[in-house]
Amino acid sequence: PAHLKIAVVPGDGIGPEVVAEAEKVLDAVTSAAGVTVEKREFGIGAEHWLETGETLTEETLEELRAYDAILFGAVGAAPGDQRVPSGILERDILLKLRFSLDHYVNLRPSKLYPGTTSPLADPGAIDFVVVREGTEGPYAGNGGRLRAGTDAEIATEVSLNTAYGVRRLVRYAFELAAKRERKKLTLVHKHNVLVNAGRLYARLVEEIGAEFPQVVVDYLHVDAATIFLTTDPARFDVIVTDNLFGDILTDLAGAVTGGIGLAPAGNINADRTAPSMFEPVHGSAPDIAGQQKANPVAAILATAMMLDHLGHPDLAARIEAAVEKDLAEHGTEDRSTAQVGDGILAQLA
Ligand code: NAD
Ligand code: IPM
Ligand code: MN
Repeated sequence: PAHLKIAVVPGDGIGPEVVAEAEKVLDAVTSAAGVTVEKREFGIGAEHWLETGETLTEETLEELRAYDAILFGAVGAAPGDQRVPSGILERDILLKLRFSLDHYVNLRPSKLYPGTTSPLADPGAIDFVVVREGTEGPYAGNGGRLRAGTDAEIATEVSLNTAYGVRRLVRYAFELAAKRERKKLTLVHKHNVLVNAGRLYARLVEEIGAEFPQVVVDYLHVDAATIFLTTDPARFDVIVTDNLFGDILTDLAGAVTGGIGLAPAGNINADRTAPSMFEPVHGSAPDIAGQQKANPVAAILATAMMLDHLGHPDLAARIEAAVEKDLAEHGTEDRSTAQVGDGILAQLA
């Protein structure tokens, strides 16, 4: 479509800093292509919660449904901030969005771009995508605390995994793998211990895999997957995994590909029954917030993923090419957030 309605949620910490650069890039590529963008900013996050006690109201959620996509920065207070208990903003804003808008695929590509420095001595050609489950697993909110605060406390988070949820995730992962050059899919789980969810994932990978004979299927326990992500990350193509494992693996993947500030994510509703949401993998980074130190590339690449999802793969490719050129010329040398954004803008021009 030549007209896009984008909801922007800058959020907390470095969220607004990186989203500002992403918006610059979005505005530049779309206006050059004659695509008009109608944006509205939603001021939800820590400050709004402290002022009003509101996280994400049903009303705001309904308003967000009217947009084609959501561009999200990050939410979350500093670990030591006593005013904001950990988990409130994360669960009641970010996870509420993912769950309510049925973002069942959390798509997290990892590429080692020329010019960036991996902490690995010999990283090889890293180019894989983690297809992380987005609405189930231990994130489902299924659990509680019994006798909280006593020596007899029992705390549970019961991982919830449905055949419906896992099947649609696995199908998405196979379809993606079939489109890629290497056509390889690795299921990462822990079915030697988590025998219930593990077997469900394994069964559905086997079942759906039968429809994709061209895709080579592999399996790793999640602990071993961390070994190979650091010793031989180039072996991976598509990784399909549970919500929590995918969270952990994608921070690691960000680190091995030159830094978490480069890693984008798409929270995808592949059935398109609600807007998808695009964000960096990283959080609000309170340790560097407000200092123009954050790398905006993750947010900018997330914007490219958003345009791709909205039917503008050409614009997505333009952004990625500009990022690639900028990284090749400047690497991740010390530049301010805005300088990196401007560098990418200059490559677009
Ligand atoms: P984090 O990703 O915010 O930060 C981890 C480390 O990476 C920090 O040292 C930070 O400075 C660095 N970093 C992150 N983004 C960077 C960037 N763009 N450029 C350069 N360096 C960057 O993770 P955390 O410290 O565990 O979490 C901080 C807060 O963010 C917490 O409240 C957490 O709950 C929240 N969080 C939110 C999201 C989200 O909204 N999507 C994601 C992760 C964490
Ligand atoms: C991420 C974050 C979130 C997650 C938190 C903040 C809820 O770490 O997007 O990776 O665990 O999914
Ligand atoms: Mn995470």
